[in-house]
Amino acid sequence: MIDQTLLPDQEQERIAEQPEQVIEAIQQLAVRGAPAIGVAAAYGLCLALRNCQHIDEVRSRFQAALPAMRAARPTAVNLQHMVDRMAQIESSTECSQLDGADLKQRLLAEARAIDEQDQQFCRAIGQSGAELIADGSTILTHCNAGALATAGTGTALSVLYEAWKQGKRFQVLADETRPLLQGSRLTAWELQKNGIPVEVICDGAAGSFFYNGEIDIVITGSDRVAANGDAANKIGTYTIASLARAHQVPFYIAAPSTTFDLTIANGGEIPIEQRPAEEIWKPAAQQQPPEGISYRNPAFDVTPASHIAGWITEVGILKPPFEEIRR
Ligand code: MRU
Repeated sequence: MIDQTLLPDQEQERIAEQPEQVIEAIQQLAVRGAPAIGVAAAYGLCLALRNCQHIDEVRSRFQAALPAMRAARPTAVNLQHMVDRMAQIESSTECSQLDGADLKQRLLAEARAIDEQDQQFCRAIGQSGAELIADGSTILTHCNAGALATAGTGTALSVLYEAWKQGKRFQVLADETRPLLQGSRLTAWELQKNGIPVEVICDGAAGSFFYNGEIDIVITGSDRVAANGDAANKIGTYTIASLARAHQVPFYIAAPSTTFDLTIANGGEIPIEQRPAEEIWKPAAQQQPPEGISYRNPAFDVTPASHIAGWITEVGILKPPFEEIRR
């Protein structure tokens, strides 16, 4: 995987040979974004099976790797969905008679299917959402919901890539996205690489851009969408959704069905990750804060369904109760 902690200064690969290294990469945000961590986790489980052949050992190593992989990060439900999908294959009747080598092959094939499905969902999300982008418009996005965050072309950014491919011309404002700067480091890097005009703004600046009428539409990704449409995404998303609402600018969530958690009624049930305090001061500050100062550092917030104009998925632009994707 590309080590996203080093971007944009260095484009360096990070190799994982053990599931623990995948977990560490997920926790450090070397690999990040809801769909990408789901795909990484599926491959990470396969790494637990290296250098073992006997069916009992394959099964016990796989089972042992599941809980920590599933718990690597709490908010993005893709991670749990993909770990559960791998676990279901392992315990399926289809796999009950397999020997060790064949079970390993079957699990690797499932990880590859998860990877390919995500790529296909990204393309379809782009096609679902491209119609929302008007020629000459300005789009605000938050965090990074692009190729770096998925196995394919992204979710929110896939919409932009597809619209650009269709010949529409527009510009993007990328929120810096404090404290880890996914907007200024990753979204700006990705869009620039693809030739799409992008400017980075401080998170706190978004309001004035809305006030000045410079933003036509907001599209972000999501880490988990509840049954009523409440959507968790990077901390600060609710702020821009509220600003969009106040200024009557449409706010869209772009996410694959694997990001929807229809088992929970609303965003109040979404677990919000708390991250280390030093993330707030380390990246930007030259000096450390006064000793003993305390912080609160939630990594995501929840945007109420009432603020979301539509849920752009691989099967179209949906509304709650999401009948199209109920299993
Ligand atoms: O903490 P991160 O960088 O993993 O947060 C990622 C986001 O908030 C993304 O917007 C979300 O996962 C959707 S990625 C297609």
